[in-house]
Amino acid sequence: MNFKLIRNFAIISHIDHGKSTLSDRLMEETKTVSDREMTPQLLDSMGVEQAHGVTVKSRTVQNTYRAKDGQDYQLNLIDTPGHVDFNYEVTKSLSATDGVILLVDATQGVQAQTVANWRLAHELGLPILPVLNKIDAASAQIDESEEQIRQLDPALAERKIYHISAKTGLGIADLLEAIVHELPAPVGDENSPLKALVFDSEYDAFQGVIAQVRVIDGTLKKGAALQLMANGQKLLAKEVGIYRPNRVPVDELTAGEVGYVVTGIKDPKQVTVGDTLTSQNQPTKTALPGYQQSQPVVYAGIYPVDDYNALQEALQKLALNDTSLVLTDEQSEAMGPGFRAAFLGIFHLQIIKERLETEFGIEVVVTAPNVSYRVQVAQKGQDIQTVTVTNPTKFPDFDQILAVEEPVVKATIMTPSDSVNQLMKLADDYRGIFMDMGNQGDYVRLVYQMPLSEIAYDFFNQLKSLSHGYASFSTEAIGYQEADLVKVDVQVNYAQVDALAFVTHRSRVAEQTQQLVHELKMTIPRRLYPMPVQALVEGRVVARVDVPPLRKNAAVNGQARSISKKQALLRRQSANKRQAAQSDIELPQAVFNALLSLK
Ligand code: GTP
Repeated sequence: MNFKLIRNFAIISHIDHGKSTLSDRLMEETKTVSDREMTPQLLDSMGVEQAHGVTVKSRTVQNTYRAKDGQDYQLNLIDTPGHVDFNYEVTKSLSATDGVILLVDATQGVQAQTVANWRLAHELGLPILPVLNKIDAASAQIDESEEQIRQLDPALAERKIYHISAKTGLGIADLLEAIVHELPAPVGDENSPLKALVFDSEYDAFQGVIAQVRVIDGTLKKGAALQLMANGQKLLAKEVGIYRPNRVPVDELTAGEVGYVVTGIKDPKQVTVGDTLTSQNQPTKTALPGYQQSQPVVYAGIYPVDDYNALQEALQKLALNDTSLVLTDEQSEAMGPGFRAAFLGIFHLQIIKERLETEFGIEVVVTAPNVSYRVQVAQKGQDIQTVTVTNPTKFPDFDQILAVEEPVVKATIMTPSDSVNQLMKLADDYRGIFMDMGNQGDYVRLVYQMPLSEIAYDFFNQLKSLSHGYASFSTEAIGYQEADLVKVDVQVNYAQVDALAFVTHRSRVAEQTQQLVHELKMTIPRRLYPMPVQALVEGRVVARVDVPPLRKNAAVNGQARSISKKQALLRRQSANKRQAAQSDIELPQAVFNALLSLK
C-alpha cells in the first residue's frame, strides 16, 4: 500500500461526547458496513458496553474512502473509551496512530477528560483535528465550545473547527475530506527490516493470542517467522489481517498499516503490549520505546456464591482479553477460597462483576475495594522493612508499624462557577489539599492533591450530584505520602471476619465504625439469637451494636417459670448457639455494600 494514501487516527473525547456514534457514521459513509449490518454504537459489541452505553475496549477499523481527488484512501480509525478507568486503552491506541480527532460535545463543551485526553495526544506530538459534535441538539453552544477548544490548545487558535452531528450525519462528508487533508500520512520505510508495534491484543479460544499491530517499517507477511523483541518469544504469523470491523485475512501488512497477526501463542503473558515485533531472519536493530504497563488502582476480593471452579475458569477467560485485570488466589476464613483482583478503577471492577454475571451466569460476592499501602515495619531484631499491602487482612500488626504511606493523585476538577464552593468543600471533606485554581472559559479549574483511596469510590458521584452533572474530573498519580492510617477489624458474634477488615484514616474511625455497625445491623442475616457486631482498632472495641434475633427467644416468652430456671436455659441455649454459629456467618453482597457506603 502506498503510504501516502493511509491515515491512522484515533477519536478521543470526554465520556459520551459521541466517539462511537461518529465511528458508526464513518463506517457507514465509507460503506465499511452495509446499512443492513448497521446498529447504533456497532463497535461497542460487548454486552456491558451496550448496557452502560460506554466503550470499554478500543476497537480498530479499516475503511476505504474515495476522496474528492479521486484517490482511494485507507482510513484506519480507532475508537477509544472515554471513561477515566480506561485511559490506558487510550494511551495504547494513540501509540498506533499519526493523528487524532478531538471530539467535543457542543452541549457540554470542553470537559476534564477532553483535557486529559488532549494532553495525552499533545505530549505524543500528534496532530489534532478539532471537531464539535451534537450541533443538531437544541442546547448546543457552538461559539462557547469553540472558544473553549481554542483556549485549551493555542495551536488550534487559527484552525477550522469542524461542526458535525454524528447522530444525523450532518458534516460527515466534510470531515472525511478533512481527515485526508489535515491529518498526516504515516512515515516509515517499506524496505527496512520489519518493525511493528504490538499496541493491543485479544484472545481467541482456538487461535490463541491475536496481536494488534501497527507496522512501522518493512512488511509483515502471512507465514513469516517472527520474534517479539522484549522476551525473545518466537512465533509464526499464522494469519495476518485487518479489521473491517470483523477480522478479514490479507496476505500482508505494509509499513504504515494497522491490522492483526494470529500468533498461535497460547499464553497471553508471552505477548505484552508495547513490544516490538520483528522478523527472525532479518531483525530490526532497535526496538520501539514501548510504554509502561497499566497501574492497578484498586484491589478487591472476589468470591463465588456457589461454584469456585466455574468462577476460576470465567476469571481466567476474562483476564486473557483484559491484561489490566490481575488475579491472585486468596483464601478467606469467612468466605472460603476466592481471588484477589487488581482493577484500573471502581468502574472497571463493576464491569468485571457484571461480565461474570451476564456472560458467564456466575454470581459473586465482591469485598469492599482498597488501594495499595506502603507500610514500614520494625520487627524485633530485624531491620526496618517496607511492605506493600494490597489486602487489609495482610496489614501488619499495629505494634510493628512505624509509618504508613498511601497513594496520592493530582485531581483536576472542571466545574461551572456556581458549584465551586460546594466542590471545594467536597474536596476538603475528602482530605484534599488545595493546589491551584484558574478559569477555563466559563469553567473553573480546581486542582487538588488527594489520597487515591478517597476518590476511588464515591467521590465521582458526589461531584456529579453537587454540580448537577456538569463538573468533571481527571487524575494523575503523583506517588505515595505518609498518612495516619489504621486497620479496622470487624467481629460478628465475637468471631473476626477477615473479609470485612478495612483501612481508614484515624480521623474517620469514630464516624465510620458507628455507621458501619449500624449498616451491618440491617444487612447481616439475622439468627434466632442476638449477635454482637463490633469494630476494633488496635485491639480496642470502638463501636458495637447487636443484630437483633429473628424472633423472640422461646425461652424468654410466656410460661411462668422460675427466674433461675429461665436463666439457666438461656445460658445453655446461647452457649450452644454461639458455638454453632461462629463458623457459619453468612456474608451476602449487601454486607460489603455497607462498607462501600461509608463516608
Ligand atoms: P464513551 O465511549 O462511553 O466515551 O461514549 P462515546 O463518546 O462513544 O459516546 P456515544 O457515541 O456512545 O454517544 C453518547 C450519547 O450521545 C448517545 O446517546 C448518542 O446517541 C448521543 N449522540 C452522539 N452523537 C450525537 C449527535 O450528534 N447529536 C445528538 N443529539 N446526540 C448524539
